[in-house]
Amino acid sequence: MTATTYTVGNFKGGVGKTKIVTMLAFDNAVINKKKTLVIDIDPQANASQILARTVNMERIEKTIVNGINENDLSVCITPIMENLDLIACDTSFRSFSNYVITNYEDEKDQIMVLEKLLAPIKDRYDAIFIDVPPTISAYSDNAMAASDYSIIAFQTQEESLDGIGKYIGYQKFMINKYNIDLEVISIIACMLEPDDDLDKNVLSDAINLYGAAVSQNIVNFQKRLKRYSREGISLKKYKNGNYDQWDYRAHETFIKILAELENRRKVFEE
Ligand SMILES: Nc1ncnc2c1ncn2[C@@H]1O[C@H](COP(=O)(O)OP(=O)(O)OP(=O)(O)O)[C@@H](O)[C@H]1O
Ligand SMILES: [Mg+2]
Repeated sequence: MTATTYTVGNFKGGVGKTKIVTMLAFDNAVINKKKTLVIDIDPQANASQILARTVNMERIEKTIVNGINENDLSVCITPIMENLDLIACDTSFRSFSNYVITNYEDEKDQIMVLEKLLAPIKDRYDAIFIDVPPTISAYSDNAMAASDYSIIAFQTQEESLDGIGKYIGYQKFMINKYNIDLEVISIIACMLEPDDDLDKNVLSDAINLYGAAVSQNIVNFQKRLKRYSREGISLKKYKNGNYDQWDYRAHETFIKILAELENRRKVFEE
């Protein structure tokens, strides 16, 4: 087993990146029963907080900063639930750019820090999802270099549609400059209001521009998904074996996206 690594990106903030990372990871572990790791490299630590809340964990003992200091990420893995681990982040990781510049002279070495640390633990997982902040920075560069695929999240707003183009452009630049292996596997519309005409127009613009790369599976705006950020992710199952319908509705699209990623991955690998 060696993990397939995905970074969910867009240099525009608040478009649903963390939502996609946490939901895909949860469903890959819980529904698909695949060994899954979330790496949070955003000092805002939203993904870390959501996953900790999911299991009522009050304190996360170690973060990626410990892993970097000890040059071994296995020291900072927090088990969340069966099949789901987290490498957490906190505000102390804001000094990452500084760390990278001070410790590595060569530009390529500066972007390969995460990739090198990840290599020894990759065989423990089927899939790794990296959550990044919305900036062109040491975070995004290291995440790109450590990933096999990018998932681009966008909100159906004009600026975040522009964000897709900028992200793809920057990714091409990184691939050419550093000779890294990376493909855009999916472009996912997030927080769409199904009845909003403007939202629908922006979505059809995205399809015109990026064709089949735009996922058929759209993440609609749902109160339940919003609530998961505050209270942690739930997927309640009743004694009769049925899932709570509102939970299931919130998870359904992500379960379909996981299947779509798997299919697209097979096509890329051929
Ligand atoms: N489909 C959705 N329905 C309802 N609320 C959502 C949905 N997706 C995301 N949200 C909410 O929108 C906010 C922003 O989402 P999220 O944190 O995933 O964005 P982000 O791109 O990771 O932001 P940042 O750039 O700051 O990291 C959060 O409060 C989240 O709960
Ligand atoms: Mg985020």
